[in-house]
Amino acid sequence: MKLLQPTEQAIAEASEALKRGLLVAFPTETVYGLGAAASDSEALKRLYAAKGRPSNHPVIVHLASVDQLSDWASEVPDAARKLAEQLWPGPLTLILPKSARVSDAVTGGQSSVGLRVPNHPVAQALLQKFGGGVAAPSANRFGRLSPTSAQDVVADFADEVEIVLDGGHCDVGIESTIVDFSQSRPRILRPGMIMPEQIEEICGIQLSSSPPPQKATTRAPGGLPSHYAPRTPLHVVPRDRLRERLESEISKGKRVCVLSFQPPLPQVPWVTGAHDAYKYARQLYGNLRKLDRENADMILVEEVPLTSDWEGIADRLRRASAAASHEVAHD
Ligand code: TXA
Ligand code: MG
Repeated sequence: MKLLQPTEQAIAEASEALKRGLLVAFPTETVYGLGAAASDSEALKRLYAAKGRPSNHPVIVHLASVDQLSDWASEVPDAARKLAEQLWPGPLTLILPKSARVSDAVTGGQSSVGLRVPNHPVAQALLQKFGGGVAAPSANRFGRLSPTSAQDVVADFADEVEIVLDGGHCDVGIESTIVDFSQSRPRILRPGMIMPEQIEEICGIQLSSSPPPQKATTRAPGGLPSHYAPRTPLHVVPRDRLRERLESEISKGKRVCVLSFQPPLPQVPWVTGAHDAYKYARQLYGNLRKLDRENADMILVEEVPLTSDWEGIADRLRRASAAASHEVAHD
């Protein structure tokens, strides 16, 4: 594995590696992606093997520009086109009926495909140089926290990845908002830092609020409750019960660490989360990794506000805590 600064030469080298069917990790504004040429079935096999991800889980295809949309989607409803035109490049993924060129290896056998134009300058440079679609799940092993720095990627992978492009820390910090246009009424499959109100306003359509059909939940890894988990069991606790819970666990001899909006207590490994949702999201995975390294018995996280700007964050915390309560094995 080579960790490279994103010079013009490194971008060209990374593009060549993709063309040879090798894996390249690159920064996006949300999280780092582990990229493979989306039209190369051998490269996709390599990608699934490296991630340790079941092959029926779909991956997002990354494109340089909205102009490529029609190459990958067989049908683009007006509302989806409006979103693409206004919010791309940006932290938004659209699920659309796939075009004939999209292989089952990308979609996990589904008739829809996830498409996204990221706005990180390094992702843009790589996609423009490469020219085609780049299939890229988050560059973490299956079930682990998504990486928000090049060092996070290096910690999860070794020789399976040819090149890691270092583009610094990701700005958004949690994965893209996914809007599904493959059903009759659009719905949010995964909340992120683009808010439902903004999507509804741009589309002029009210999003469906019913739960996604079973098929989508079982096939989409982001839909598994145990996704995005640190190794340490994580519990979300309401603000007014945090102190009491902390004292009770400590009195039982448990080693506890905390992510909270409140100032730290002495003797407890503690991270204070930002009050601004965008800032909190940017720091979230880094904060959880830091607390995970404490090797404590548990991480207590103070519940975040219920307003829509916190929904993506609340979703990731819920999934991380589901891993603890279901005692699911990861990796
Ligand atoms: O921000 C992001 O979206 C990052 C960066 C790297 O772009 N990527 C990412 O990919 O989070 P991944 O593979 O970790 O998550 C992709 C999610 C899956 O959990 C799945 O829910 C959804 O995209 N997805 C992709 N294609 C789909 C499809 N055809 N139907 C339903 N869901 C799909
Ligand atoms: Mg992921």
